[in-house]
Order: sequence, then structure tokens, then C-alpha cells
Amino acid sequence: MTRKIDEVAEIFRGIIGPEWVITERVYMESYLRDETPDVSRPPAAENLILLKPSSTGEVSEILKAANEMRIPVFPVGGRTGLVGGCIPTEDGIILSLERMNRIDVDEENLMATAEAGATLADLIGAADEAGLFFPLHPGDEGAQIGGLISTNAGGVRAVKYGVMRNYVKGLEVVLATGDVLNLGGPLIKNNMGYDLMDLIIGSEGTLCVITRAVIKLYPKSGCSVTLILPYDDRSDAIRTVPSILRSGVIPLAIEYVEIKELNKAAEHIGDEWPVQSGKAQLIIILSGRSEDEVYSACEVISEVAEENNAGEPIIAETRDEQERILRIRSNIYTALKAEMVDILDITVPMSRLGDLMNSIDETSRKYGVYLPVYGHAGDGNLHIHLMKEGGEVPENIGEVKREIYDAGVRLGGVITGEHGIGHLRIGELDRFISDKELSLMREIKRIFDPNNILNPGKIFPRG
Ligand code: LAC
Ligand code: ZN
Repeated sequence: MTRKIDEVAEIFRGIIGPEWVITERVYMESYLRDETPDVSRPPAAENLILLKPSSTGEVSEILKAANEMRIPVFPVGGRTGLVGGCIPTEDGIILSLERMNRIDVDEENLMATAEAGATLADLIGAADEAGLFFPLHPGDEGAQIGGLISTNAGGVRAVKYGVMRNYVKGLEVVLATGDVLNLGGPLIKNNMGYDLMDLIIGSEGTLCVITRAVIKLYPKSGCSVTLILPYDDRSDAIRTVPSILRSGVIPLAIEYVEIKELNKAAEHIGDEWPVQSGKAQLIIILSGRSEDEVYSACEVISEVAEENNAGEPIIAETRDEQERILRIRSNIYTALKAEMVDILDITVPMSRLGDLMNSIDETSRKYGVYLPVYGHAGDGNLHIHLMKEGGEVPENIGEVKREIYDAGVRLGGVITGEHGIGHLRIGELDRFISDKELSLMREIKRIFDPNNILNPGKIFPRG
């Protein structure tokens, strides 16, 4: 910032009130990081001001002032991202909408209007109270609506209802100039020109600030069960996935996991993984209107599993038991975090998942590194952890990562299907998309944010 921090803070005190303008570092520590492992996360800049506005009008005034002063603005949500996407890497403003957390459920249209600072837990709870359901579950329920949309979050329960993009029907956003746009609404069909809403979803805070969203909800299912299928042979587990989907049964989730990491995750949260048979396992979440519907789906899956050499399926029926399974699964990342350097989220066509795993095995052998693998098999989306060795970042980590990226793209996939580009993958984007595509993206960024004040240095390199 060319202007003195005190001078700038004073301007914002006039907009949102002095108690919501934070300049002391000690009160902004948790806003300087996300869930990216320490060794890979970029450092936060030195001169930062944390702002907590309470309304879209205040966000608009903040952006207008920041744009006029050419001060970078780093919008943050629940800071649960894994690619350093919300880290304030330059002197400027951290913009948290945590005070804007209202949720109104529109039962007639099966939609919720949620402010950007509401958390995933808030949305799940509000839907539940209204007898409805928000299925998406990207792990950490502290994630905020604005962040879920900016990153087009995915997670465990995307097989049946899709990723965040499939839920967002309307957006209120503030542009860098302070102009407020209202896009879409509680509508199922909308073809009024280019879809700016879809462009903004997944744009990682680089195009505008999302302040409110209209989000599709679903009826609560009358019955839900979680199946665990154990396998001695990984390739049998992988072969089961398309067979399940071809059977006509569409689960909420089909996760591929390995016993070693599950035990570690369970231990990490003081629990035990309930199934100890089979090195590889599939976790399948089924939901439906009635017990009959769900149990007949279970039978179909059991048959498919048996044809693919699975061991005896284990069925969790109570809500507690199912939540426990999801909690342990969601904690694999947290359990491994201290020992890891990075987590990849390669996505390939489902039919190539086995090839991707074989290729990762080859890389693991070639470089002598441990590469734990698990993920959202029903979405072709695999997490590969790059681990430290003896507490240190291995020297050849760059080559290992590159080989895995190359394999993903060779198999018809993308280097990130879930966590995004953020800061960590900036250097890779131009390797995997054409110059033309990249230049179109850059032009779009320039049109939305000509002074590059919104989350600068993310998705594209600075300058
Ligand atoms: C998961 C996060 C790491 O799937 O994406 O657990
Ligand atoms: Zn994931």
C-alpha cells in the first residue's frame, strides 16, 4: 500500500464502524492462513487491514474505495481451502463477510437464500429445520457459502446431485467498481444471454465478491444407509464403480479409501474404523424415499460388489453410525496434514481411474516415495498426498508432482477437479491449457477487474 495503513484504515472506519476495522496482527492471525500444509502455503503480507462489513452496501463502498486507491482486496470465507487461494499475499485488505450469515429457506421453491458468510453447517441445519436437505459435503462444515461458490466446492456427496455449481441458481455480487449485480434467482431455467453466474462460480475471488446466493435444496430422504465394501484387490474395487452406476442405482457418494489411511484418520480423532477386512474399500452412501427403495438399492449394490469379488458388505443404518463413518473419512486429510507437503486432486474420466492409480504406483516406485491415494471414485476424482520424508520436503517432489499431473492429463483428465488453482497451482495452468484459453481467461479478468485489485496473484501469476 502506498498510503499509510492508518490513513486507509480511517477511511474504512468511516464506512463500517471502527470496531470492524482490525489492524493489529494478533487479532487477524487465523485470517492469514487456510488449510494448506505449512510448508506449501504462501506467507501472508505484512501490512494488512481486516474488514468485517455487515451488508452488501458496505461491501460495495469498501470495493469502490479500494478500487479508487488501487488497494488489493483478499476475500476470505471459512479458510478451509487447500491451495492458498485466500491468503493475503500482498499488502492490502482481508475482507471477511462472516457477519453476513443470514439464511432464509424458501420451502415452496426448494431453495435457500444464504448470505456469503453463513457456514456450510448453518446451511445444512437451516435446510434440515425446514424438512429439506443440502447434500453437498466438502469435508469441513466451517466452510462459508461465498467460499463454497468461489471454489465450486465438490467433496464426498457429489455423485447424485453434482458439485456446488449445480446448486447455485442465483447470485448477488459486488464488482470491483462497487456496482452490485443480481444474477439468476430461484429459477430452474434461465437463458438470458451469457451466463455470468457460471463464470463467477469457481473464479476464486478474482472477478467479484459474492455477497448472497440462491441455493437449490432437495427433499429430505426418508431413508439413508452407508455401505462399506471391502476388497483384497484394488482393481476389483475400481471396477465396481462404473458397474454400480450402470445398474441404475445412483448413490449420493462412492468413495475409494484404503485401510491404512482410514485407521490413521480414526486414531487422529480418537475413534476406530469399523471395518478391518480388505486393504481397499468403497464407502457408498445411499438415500431414497423409503426403506424399501434403499434396501432394494442395497441388494443391487451387493450383487454388483459380489460379481467384482468384494468381501461381505457392512451396512450402517443409524444416523450416528453413518455420521461417524463420514467424519472419519473427512479426517483423512487432517490426519495426514502434519506429515505432508501437498494434496493433489486429479480428476479423470471414471473409466481411467484404475490407469491413474497404476501410474501413481509407478511414480511411487520410481522415486521411492509413499503416495497415499483415496478419493471420490464416483466422480473420477482422486486425492494423492505428497508426503514429507523424515520430516523434510523430499528433493524430487517437483518431479513427482509433475509426473502425476502429466499422467492425469494424458488420461483425459485435469490437474484439479476440486481444490482449484489458488496460489499453489499457478505455475501449472499454462502447461495444461492452450495459450488461447489462457488469454481469454486473462481478458475476462481484465474486464471484471481492470486494476487487478481482487485476489491478485491467484489463478494467474501477478503482472
Ligand atoms: C477430501 C478433501 C481433502 O476429499 O478434498 O477429504
Ligand atoms: Zn476431496
